[in-house]
Amino acid sequence: MAIQIINTAPIAGQRPGTSGLRKKVAVFSAPQYLENFVQSVFDTVGDCRGQTLVLGGDGRFYNRAAIQTVLRMAAAHGYARVLLGQGGILSTPAVSCVIRKHGASGGIILSASHNPGGPDGDFGIKYNIANGGPAPEKVTEAMFARTQALTEYRISDAADIDLDQLGTVRIEQMEVEVIDPVLDYAELMQQLFDFDAIRALFAGGLRICFDGMHAVSGPYATAILEGMLGAPKGSVINGVPLEDFGGGHPDPNPVNAQELIAIMAADDGPDFGAASDGDGDRNMIVGRRFDVTPSDSLAILAANAAVAPGYRGGLAGIARSMPTSGAADRVAGALGIPCFETPTGWKFFGTLLDAGMATLCGEESYGTGSHHVREKDGVWAVLFWLNLLAAKGQSVEAIVRAHWAAHGRNYYSRHDYEDIDSAGAQQLMEAVRGRLAALPGQVFDGYTVALADDFSYTDPVDGSVATQQGIRIVMTDGARIVLRLSGTGTEGATLRLYLERYAADPAQHAIPTQDALAGLIGVAETVAQIRARTGRDAPTVTT
Ligand code: G6P
Ligand code: ZN
Repeated sequence: MAIQIINTAPIAGQRPGTSGLRKKVAVFSAPQYLENFVQSVFDTVGDCRGQTLVLGGDGRFYNRAAIQTVLRMAAAHGYARVLLGQGGILSTPAVSCVIRKHGASGGIILSASHNPGGPDGDFGIKYNIANGGPAPEKVTEAMFARTQALTEYRISDAADIDLDQLGTVRIEQMEVEVIDPVLDYAELMQQLFDFDAIRALFAGGLRICFDGMHAVSGPYATAILEGMLGAPKGSVINGVPLEDFGGGHPDPNPVNAQELIAIMAADDGPDFGAASDGDGDRNMIVGRRFDVTPSDSLAILAANAAVAPGYRGGLAGIARSMPTSGAADRVAGALGIPCFETPTGWKFFGTLLDAGMATLCGEESYGTGSHHVREKDGVWAVLFWLNLLAAKGQSVEAIVRAHWAAHGRNYYSRHDYEDIDSAGAQQLMEAVRGRLAALPGQVFDGYTVALADDFSYTDPVDGSVATQQGIRIVMTDGARIVLRLSGTGTEGATLRLYLERYAADPAQHAIPTQDALAGLIGVAETVAQIRARTGRDAPTVTT
C-alpha cells in the first residue's frame, strides 16, 4: 500500500447546489471527476489527520465504486477512522445521527436524494459537518473555488475492501469500521417516541403501508416498524434498496408514489400510509384516501409535540422554509413561541437548531425534522405520526380536520415546470423581478398586492445573508404566490410556483385544493406569463 499524488486539472461545473453536487452518473464516473471533488472537500475541511469520517450512501448505481474511491482518498489524507454503513448504505438522517453520536468531524453522503438512479440516472455527493448537518454555503462555495484551482489529488493504491462484512479493516493507517446502518439510528428513535404505545397500536390491528420506493429507508423502516414495533410483515413495501430504485423516481409525492396512493385509496386500505425518498430524509404522510400536505404535517406535529416523550419538554421554536405554508406560524403563535422563515434548503436550519432556537423544522418539499439530528428525517416523521395516532385514537383525516377547525386551513399547492430551458427560466424570473416595485397596490382578480419582493434572509445566529431566495407576492389577505428556480435539478431548469391561501372559517375547509387556489393561479399567470415563457400549458408535477 502506498499513497500516490496524481496530477489533475480543474473540471468546470463542480458547484454544489441546494443539497450537494449532483450530476449524471456518466459525468461522475468520468476520469478524475469524483476524485477532484473529494480532494476539494478534504482541502476545504483542512487537517483531516486523526479525525473520524462517516461514510455511506443511498445504494444507487455507482455507490459502491464511489465508496471505494472515497475510502482510498480518506486514507491518503490521514483520517484515523471511517464509520462505513454496511453495504455502503446509510440514510442521510442516519449519517447525521452517527456523526453526532460518535463525535466524527464530518461525513460524506453519496446520494442524489430523490433524483432517479441507475446508469442513466443521477449521482451525488454531499459533505456534512461535525454538528451532523449539511455544510453551510460558505463551505460549499469554498469547495467549489477549490475545484477550480486543483492541480493534484492524493489517493492510496490499496485494494477494494469488502463493504458487506461487519467489522474493522485497515487502509494505510486508517481503520474502516463497517457498521450496521440501522442500529444507532433505531436507538435514537426509541428515546424520542413512545414505542410501547405504537406497539399497542399495531397489536390492536392498525394497518400501515410504508413505501420504501426501493431506496435507502427500506432497511430502517423494516427493522423499526416490522422488527421492533410489531407491524405485520408486508407493512413495508419496496423495502429493498435497488441500484436503479426499481426504475422508479424515489420522490415521495402523490405523483411518484402512485403505488402507495392506490393502496391507500382501496376500500379496505390501510389506516396509515407513508413514503420516503432516495436517501431517506423526506416523508409523505397519507391517510385513507387523504393526503397530508407537508406544511400541514409540520404544523400538526408542532401542535401535538407533547405526545412524544422526546418533545414533552415543549418546543423552543419552529422553523420553516419561506415557500412552506404559514400553518406552522399559526401554531407557533398559539403556543407563544417564535416561527423562523428561512430560505429553501435544510442547511439554513442548522444554526437555529444548534443555538437551541428551533426544535421542529419543516419544508413544503416533504421534509420534516427536529433537533435530534441536523437533517430532515423520513422515518422519524412516520414514527411521530404513529405516536400521534396512538395518543389520539383518531384517523389521519380526523386529526387533520380537527387541526384546521382549531387553527384555520392554509390551502397550499406547488406547481412544478420541470426541465424547461435554463435561459428562458432566468428571463422569466428577471422579468418578474423587474415588475416587483410596481406591484404593491395593484389589484388582480380581487386580490390586492400588499408586498412584492425577492426574499433575502439574514441568519439571526451568525448574521450571514442569503439573497434572491425566491420571489414572493403577498396579498392584503395574506394569500401568497412564490416563484423560484429549483437548486436540485440536473436537467435544464425547474420553475416552482407555490400558492397559498388561508381560510379561517371551517365551512370553507372542504374545497378541492386546486379550486380553492384557482384565483391565485390566474394571478400568477398574469404576472409571470408562465405559459408563454415556458412554452408549457400545464405544470409537470402538482403537489
Ligand atoms: C432538497 C433539500 C431541501 C430542499 C429541496 C428542494 O431536498 O434538502 O432542503 O427543500 O431539496 O429544493 P429545490 O431547490 O429543488 O426546490
Ligand atoms: Zn432526500
